[in-house]
Amino acid sequence: MTATLIDGIGLLYTADPEREEIRDAALVAEDGRVAWVGPAAEAPHADRRVDAGGRCVVPGFVDSHAHLVFAGDRTAEFEARMSGRPYSAGGIRSTVEATRRAGDAELATHAAALVAEMLAQGTTTVEIKSGYGLSVEDERRSLEIATGLTDETTFLGAHVVPAGASADDYVRLVTGEMLAACAPYAKWVDVFCERGAFDGDQTREILRAGIAAGLQARVHAAQLGPGPGVLIACELGAASADHCTHLTDADVDALASSGTVATLLPGAEFSTRSPYPDARRLIDAGVTVALATDCNPGSSFTSSMPFCVALAVREMGMTPLEAVRAATYGGARALRRTDVGWLRPGARADLVVLDAPSYVHLAYRPGVPLVHQVFQAGLLLE
Ligand code: NIG
Ligand code: FE
Repeated sequence: MTATLIDGIGLLYTADPEREEIRDAALVAEDGRVAWVGPAAEAPHADRRVDAGGRCVVPGFVDSHAHLVFAGDRTAEFEARMSGRPYSAGGIRSTVEATRRAGDAELATHAAALVAEMLAQGTTTVEIKSGYGLSVEDERRSLEIATGLTDETTFLGAHVVPAGASADDYVRLVTGEMLAACAPYAKWVDVFCERGAFDGDQTREILRAGIAAGLQARVHAAQLGPGPGVLIACELGAASADHCTHLTDADVDALASSGTVATLLPGAEFSTRSPYPDARRLIDAGVTVALATDCNPGSSFTSSMPFCVALAVREMGMTPLEAVRAATYGGARALRRTDVGWLRPGARADLVVLDAPSYVHLAYRPGVPLVHQVFQAGLLLE
């Protein structure tokens, strides 16, 4: 196999805690994997050479929380919010109606377009949830479509109780027939644990059923107000508690003493005009933090990890280093992946060449398209 040497890297951010930044660096990719990283002066010979021209290179972003299988958009709801109407989880039901009406090909094409949009902005790994079907067949087909786009698929039948259903009947459906139909297509099970969605007992029951079916847990927790979701996530060994906007001291302690990652989704606070989560408090307590887009038509219709990095630095008390770490290494931890999210020998050669001398520019130059090149598994995407 041919090896590719990328040299002329002004600053290499590896996200590898053992050697996080290397100036005047080079990287060798071979067979889709990172074969070597180090100072350019020590780089081994390779058949092919790419000159990064002094730019900064970072790992491909790992977007560990996105809802990409849906139809329709909610422009009017967004406009109303910008004039002061509050966000409510009930808006999910309008996307459910549009999604149920859409054909498989339409849903798949739309989701693939969003994945392409993400890739162009440096996201090389994305998690995709169901949750806009809320019937056995609509959840199943949402996940089947997601499996065509990523290995990180999440069963979120417990997004809200669909219109016209009783909560008890719906929880029975989710933990029974729907889980059985969806589990073959999913790695993860997720619940929207929130007032207006699912309470603590329902969340526990659904996550336990998912775990018994071979799935791993993650939880939408404490987005709109304080609630039991974070403690349940930690208690059940979930990979991640997502949103974490309204945390109690007990929540922070539980996250710090568990392996559960806190995934922060500042696009949601931006678009719902809510206070941002306090990343500083979490990091200072020793919690592993991830950043993700939450890309969805209701609460956060952005596919841009650079935008989330900029928000995290400006609004959430993160340093640029902490934010880029959370968008790469943190996302990989939230998905329990060790093959992505960092650039060290053996990892997948997923990387972004930034049109900037430093990753700090991701926050310093918000809204500017700084992605010069993206390599996925060692291949340069044109
Ligand atoms: O993560 N919180 C639940 N789900 C989405 C919102 C979905 C919607 O409004 O359509 C979220 O923000
Ligand atoms: Fe979400």
